[in-house]
Amino acid sequence: MSLNELTSQMLPAIEAELQRQTARLDQPRTRPFYEMLTYHMGWSGEGAGPEATGKRIRPLLVLLTTAACGTDWQPALPAAAAVELIHNFSLVHDDVQDNSDKRRGRPTVWVKWGVPMAINVGDALFVLANQALLDLTPHYPAETVVHAARILQETCLDLTRGQYLDMSYQGRKDLHIEDYWPMIGGKTAALLAACTSIGALLGAADSATQETYRAFGHSLGLAFQVQDDLLGIWGDEALTGKSAASDLVEGKNSLPVLAGLSKKGKFAERWAQGPIRPDEVQELADLLAAESAYGYTYEAARQMTDLALNNLRVADPQGEAGVALFALTEKLLGRQA
Ligand code: IPE
Ligand code: IPE
Ligand code: MG
Ligand code: MG
Repeated sequence: MSLNELTSQMLPAIEAELQRQTARLDQPRTRPFYEMLTYHMGWSGEGAGPEATGKRIRPLLVLLTTAACGTDWQPALPAAAAVELIHNFSLVHDDVQDNSDKRRGRPTVWVKWGVPMAINVGDALFVLANQALLDLTPHYPAETVVHAARILQETCLDLTRGQYLDMSYQGRKDLHIEDYWPMIGGKTAALLAACTSIGALLGAADSATQETYRAFGHSLGLAFQVQDDLLGIWGDEALTGKSAASDLVEGKNSLPVLAGLSKKGKFAERWAQGPIRPDEVQELADLLAAESAYGYTYEAARQMTDLALNNLRVADPQGEAGVALFALTEKLLGRQA
């Protein structure tokens, strides 16, 4: 069974579990609220469909890890739904925080219904995630469920700390490449680490193996965000579904920017002068690439992917799911969406 065959079994099961979990919010009096949530999840409204749901990488990581530990992945579905709901809660709020008007090729929730409503949609997704996790109870011992809940809660705190750093870095001129890693470690890698760590926990792996899977997810998360930053400047909007101007215009100190600044060249000179206008974005992206920030960023993603692959080799994942985890890790490097 290839990566595609296994994931093509898992993806519909993930979607069904997500719909089952979110149906808790579906009540007649507040149906428009529920529809805001299903819009964001990619199931309803204009442009709904597979393009609008996102890649569902995080639930796949939970299920593949559980299976790679030699156990059935089906009972782990509530945990897979939980991490995807946490991810989507963070996206709805992140689009407010980043002033982003496009996500998965469609207008963001705050653009359609306003910031106050978007905050509330994010809150509902957060609660639904925690309710989903508790649905592990019939299939796993209570102490395992509590352990999974602790991992997820600690992760959410890390995520907010990462978002704090991301936002507090905007407009700052004194940052270095070293400041970047703790920021993305919190906002992105923490959740991918939680996926593989919870997957290994539910797969009944011993604690050393759980830790190795956690390290794998963390490195993979770092590589994933570095690639996201690369796409945030040089990506094709039609493929990423997000605005390609946004990171530079919002003054995000992403890895390409910090790499460019370290050159102290023409890009650094322009960055120091204040906010980038949308009409300058293309020129600045070209300048950054000419000052070798593209190569630097790509190389960093490669290095983090290699670290992830090393951790994965040590974890020694079994069977088709193991093969799929290696394939997924390679596939995420160099992704265009
Ligand atoms: C976007 O994550 C946010 C980051 C952490 C970079 P994804 O690229 O996994 O988003 P979707 O769910 O596939 O849209
Ligand atoms: C990714 O943030 C992490 C979270 C959403 C918590 P970004 O702001 O870098 O991601 P995109 O590019 O908007 O998806
Ligand atoms: Mg952000
Ligand atoms: Mg963002």
